Amino acid sequence: MFENDFTRRLKIQFPIIQAPMAGGPTTPELVAEVSNAGGLGSLGAAYLTPEKLRSTIQEVRQLTEQPFGVNLFVPEEAAESQAIIKEMTSHLNKYRVELGVKENPPIDSTPESFEQQIQVLLEERVPVVSFTFGIPPKDVIEVLKSQGIMVIGTATTVEEAKLLELAGVEAIVAQGSEAGGHRGTFLKSNTDSLVGTIALVPQIVDQVSIPVIASGGIMDGRGLVASLSLGAAAVQMGTAFLASMESGAHNVYKKAILTANEDSTVVTRAYSGKPARGIKTTFIEEIDQYAGTIPAFPIQNAMTRDIRQAAAKTNNPEYMSLWAGQGLRLATDHPAAAIIQQTMSQAQVLVESRFQTKD
Ligand SMILES: Cc1cc2nc3c(=O)[nH]c(=O)nc-3n(C[C@H](O)[C@H](O)[C@H](O)COP(=O)(O)O)c2cc1C
Repeated sequence: MFENDFTRRLKIQFPIIQAPMAGGPTTPELVAEVSNAGGLGSLGAAYLTPEKLRSTIQEVRQLTEQPFGVNLFVPEEAAESQAIIKEMTSHLNKYRVELGVKENPPIDSTPESFEQQIQVLLEERVPVVSFTFGIPPKDVIEVLKSQGIMVIGTATTVEEAKLLELAGVEAIVAQGSEAGGHRGTFLKSNTDSLVGTIALVPQIVDQVSIPVIASGGIMDGRGLVASLSLGAAAVQMGTAFLASMESGAHNVYKKAILTANEDSTVVTRAYSGKPARGIKTTFIEEIDQYAGTIPAFPIQNAMTRDIRQAAAKTNNPEYMSLWAGQGLRLATDHPAAAIIQQTMSQAQVLVESRFQTKD
């Protein structure tokens, strides 16, 4: 009932993509379980070294024979004045003292080599590669496609979607403002491109001729059916899987997700220098006071890494980044396969009952 050209092309049973989530949540177990259950598991691989990327892909392959995706960030040059970096360092030292870590640590903001990451994806012949934070270089899109790898881009506005289509991507994740994690926005906008999923998806669907994947706030069968009604070919769900059994999210993070509400999140640059949606913490509240002078991504991300890691070690959620979308109340700690099954059976009941059923 829920098959379409896009699911057939991806060779998946259900139109559900488990969102790639860089930084730990998307373990090989989570990716493989989702793919084994009929969805498309995706590995958030942006922060992985080429060696770790290869070994993680191989781990996924040991756990599933089904297709899966790998996601990378389109690299961006970061330049920041020494004065701004110095000022932020002194703000951050307060947390270092509190957490007992070294003050003024060196900043390593060199991203993983994008070219080497792409080389690994080509050598490992992963079935699907998705990108966020921009338009991947044309030669990268072409070489991936020439190997039969499906290339997916991320857009937060119609204009971004059109540019991605023009560049040759084969499907677009339409990321609404409800979405957890970093905004994929790459064109300047007066409003931070905070367009909700229900408004964004049909407007992108009308303006591009490639499949659109709805993303942001979709947590269950109701969100799936709504997205398909808006013209999406599939959904990409992140927060719904964050507290799942196979997710690699820290226990304190999982607990925060399971107890937070729809109004618990904010979009902030405090942790990474790039707008991202997460559960409000003391760190966000305090660092957002310096909103005008937060270094750009990935510099701020590198500058706060030691603090986030030390906070995780001491189970202190207030200084950890707790990325999550607005659908929080609907998150569960079920196994990933159960989340897929529950979503699909709820969607089926809804369609068969012509939307008369509440759940
Ligand atoms: C913890 C977390 C990490 C994320 N990391 C990535 C990432 O590495 N790459 C990416 O394209 N999207 C990333 N996203 C965004 C998701 O792809 C997706 O847009 C979002 O999860 C959808 O909203 P939802 O969380 O309400 O389902 C992340 C989201 C979360 C919650």
